[in-house]
Amino acid sequence: MTRFLVTGASGLLGLNFALRFGEQHEIIGVVHQNRLRNVPFQVLQADLTHLGVLQALVEKANPEVILHCAALANVDTCESQNDLAYRVNAEVPGELAKIARDTGIHLVHISTDAVFDGARGNYTEEDQPNPQNTYARTKLAGEQAVQNANPDALVARVNFYGWSISGQRSLAEHFFYNLSARKQMKGFTDVFFCPLEVNHLAEILMRLITLKASGVYHVASGEALSKYNFGQRIARRFGLDSSLIQPVSWREAGLKAARSPNLTLNVDKLRNTLDDEPPTQDQGLERFYQLFCAGYPQRLLTLRQ
Ligand SMILES: NC(=O)c1ccc[n+]([C@@H]2O[C@H](COP(=O)([O-])OP(=O)(O)OC[C@H]3O[C@@H](n4cnc5c(N)ncnc54)[C@H](OP(=O)(O)O)[C@@H]3O)[C@@H](O)[C@H]2O)c1
Repeated sequence: MTRFLVTGASGLLGLNFALRFGEQHEIIGVVHQNRLRNVPFQVLQADLTHLGVLQALVEKANPEVILHCAALANVDTCESQNDLAYRVNAEVPGELAKIARDTGIHLVHISTDAVFDGARGNYTEEDQPNPQNTYARTKLAGEQAVQNANPDALVARVNFYGWSISGQRSLAEHFFYNLSARKQMKGFTDVFFCPLEVNHLAEILMRLITLKASGVYHVASGEALSKYNFGQRIARRFGLDSSLIQPVSWREAGLKAARSPNLTLNVDKLRNTLDDEPPTQDQGLERFYQLFCAGYPQRLLTLRQ
């Protein structure tokens, strides 16, 4: 049994990780504005941007591993709140990395595929990042701050989907709920990614933690697809009307922040480290579907205070 401090424990990744492993490991989750109840792990409430909070949390939780999932993860919010985005996504991870180094705690910092410009895709860990919006720039600054302070930290660049407490945190939920309500939607045919289902991601992170992996890792599916195709597959798996999804280019969508068209990640380093193949898109969507059939989204809604 390992003692974890999980920041962002009300978020899509942090909550699913803490629920997945809350009974096997000792987990102390940190939330900010979204309080939780009836969860199988201890919950602390804190604003990580406040001075002294990180040190106090680490002293209180005394973890062996910190999984740092907290972030300002909404791309458009980052665009309108630059300073807050920099504080949360860049400075906080750097400060946490120093504390982890000084106390000998293994830090796992969650970053993003969006550090790349998306001009060509299939990016390896050695490729040069070139972030295209405030979210991505601040996340890259966070990675660099972590690596400068603490070379033993694991920096996982990810993309994922799953069920969340708000029902609005992931693209898969967005497709599912809108299609269920028979709403017309747009699906980008020219934006490619290789997301993992969030429980698959949590399990891979746990395997990397067990191996004490450090440095940058691309933690994604080995199979890429367009966002339009992703929506089509969700519609098919859930028996929803896929013709409600209109194929469009992201350039026609009037978004505030620029999008990077091909953010597919090369996962050879992950394959070699795990000696295993990361899940395919069908495996991920099947898990997303089976969780739905088991009533998991409803259970999550009851966890919100
Ligand atoms: N979702 C994706 O597909 C995706 C893709 C690439 C990378 N990532 C990265 O993966 C990580 C997890 O993302 P996610 O989708 O799980 O994010 P999310 O659902 O938006 O959750 C963000 C979490 O951060 C917490 N938080 C934000 N500001 C905070 C503050 N000042 N103090 C304390 N906690 C704060 C939030 O707490 P409250 O909700 O309680 O306020 C929430 O628990 C992030 O690093 C993100 O950049 C996500």
